Amino acid sequence: MSPPIAVDPAPASPAPKPSGNVSSIKAAVDFDASRHLSFSPPSSVLTMKDLCLEPTALSNVATTEPFPLLSHEAVLQHRRELFSPEVLDNCLHYTRPGSVQLRGMAPRYAPFIHKFWHSPEVLKIVSSIAGVDLVPAMDYEVSHTNVQLGPGGLDAVRSTPVEPPTATEEAIRAFEADKAQKRAVTDQTKPIIEWHKDSHPWVCVVMLSDARHMTGGETELMKGDGTTLKVKAPQMGCAVLLQGRYITHTAAPVDNMPERVTIVTSFRPRNPMLPDETTNANVRNKSHLSELYYQWTTYRLDVLAQRARITADALRRRYDENVKANDPEGKKGMCLVETVNVGEVEAWAEEQIKYIRETLHEMRPLDKSGKFTAVAVIIEIETKALVELCQGTNTLARPAVRLAPESEPSPTSTHYVPSCIPRSPSRGPNSRTHFAIFIPHANLADKDLAVPTFKDAPCAGTIVQVVGEPLMSGFVLEFKRNFDCSTAHDPRRLALLSNVDTENIYD
Ligand SMILES: [Fe+2]
Repeated sequence: MSPPIAVDPAPASPAPKPSGNVSSIKAAVDFDASRHLSFSPPSSVLTMKDLCLEPTALSNVATTEPFPLLSHEAVLQHRRELFSPEVLDNCLHYTRPGSVQLRGMAPRYAPFIHKFWHSPEVLKIVSSIAGVDLVPAMDYEVSHTNVQLGPGGLDAVRSTPVEPPTATEEAIRAFEADKAQKRAVTDQTKPIIEWHKDSHPWVCVVMLSDARHMTGGETELMKGDGTTLKVKAPQMGCAVLLQGRYITHTAAPVDNMPERVTIVTSFRPRNPMLPDETTNANVRNKSHLSELYYQWTTYRLDVLAQRARITADALRRRYDENVKANDPEGKKGMCLVETVNVGEVEAWAEEQIKYIRETLHEMRPLDKSGKFTAVAVIIEIETKALVELCQGTNTLARPAVRLAPESEPSPTSTHYVPSCIPRSPSRGPNSRTHFAIFIPHANLADKDLAVPTFKDAPCAGTIVQVVGEPLMSGFVLEFKRNFDCSTAHDPRRLALLSNVDTENIYD
């Protein structure tokens, strides 16, 4: 439901072009809730518990059935601004074959859209459904637009009509035929987006095309018990809310539509004291970084400033209470009772330092060539085979080195040599830890893998390691292609080692 996670080695974001047309700006329409909202509450709301997941610190709500949100007039005004020459000239990015994204248009090129998604009425709706007070994550994440390219390709995007085209007779027949097959679930063998979690706590996805005869498009959610659940795709003007930062999900392929335009607006909690795990993952390669980083840094500093103010005010109140309760004259200036708990302040400071570090990390450099940097990481491994060996349940294999050829996609095809290296340091004073070098596939280059949640999404690449033991068999160098850290048992932690240019990586 969010911007796709994987990126192609596609052209970098285009440089902004001078606007040759300001007509759409002049034609901007003021947001009017009575005209532009057509809200009805969702027929049902799924909780985290329904998905066998723990409620987050933000909310127990997981997602919603599609619900009406935009009036037809609001749909048209969104489309009018999104497909204006200014937006197409300045905000269009390529990430996947067959689709383009429009990003960062509000408020400069899309004043109505900006007002719509910042309006108290819309924020009240999304907040009341989500169960937590929400605000747009940043202006840059207002109305991220996914446009599925048709036969006319990119050129046809410039001719996108304001009024969404309706299905052809042929498409309607195909839809009816498909319906007759009673396809209760969508073929998920080729999802359009791999399993992932979003970069922002909440997303609101809205359909801006006529989807009455659409097949597919459902969002599939991964439940805590390993099973999955599908949520219907929204119809035109309708929305779906998802706590996408905390729920692994994917989207089914879409078919039988004359065009497909969806918008995604991302939200974060308004309360600065709530956890804020927003990231820039997956958006940096489709953004003008000078603008994105400005918005990102100022919002993060604003949150920090609010946290500092709230914490300082709490100390002032505590101080006043101490003075009142303990000073014989009730005067400030010589309070002899402890107001500041140093440990408490230290814990607070650590949290803010982490927040600042994350703020900086989300602005780490992309490589100078404009291509994306790949990330090499160290893997701390406790291999199952190793444990079994140390427990005497495995047979020591003869050392061997073999490079898996291109034709061998499975990492298991590589000869594996178990080792007698003792287990991790936490298991004993003389233990050693096994490390390996992991080079992720180039399409993961902009993804932050050095996080505890690295197993939340596919994470494949080449692993290089030395395995063996010092006395009997010796050591061997081992390479494994297409090693997926997210599904393999062994990797326990990834740590950033260095960045290398994707030109030097041969997947
Ligand atoms: Fe998503």
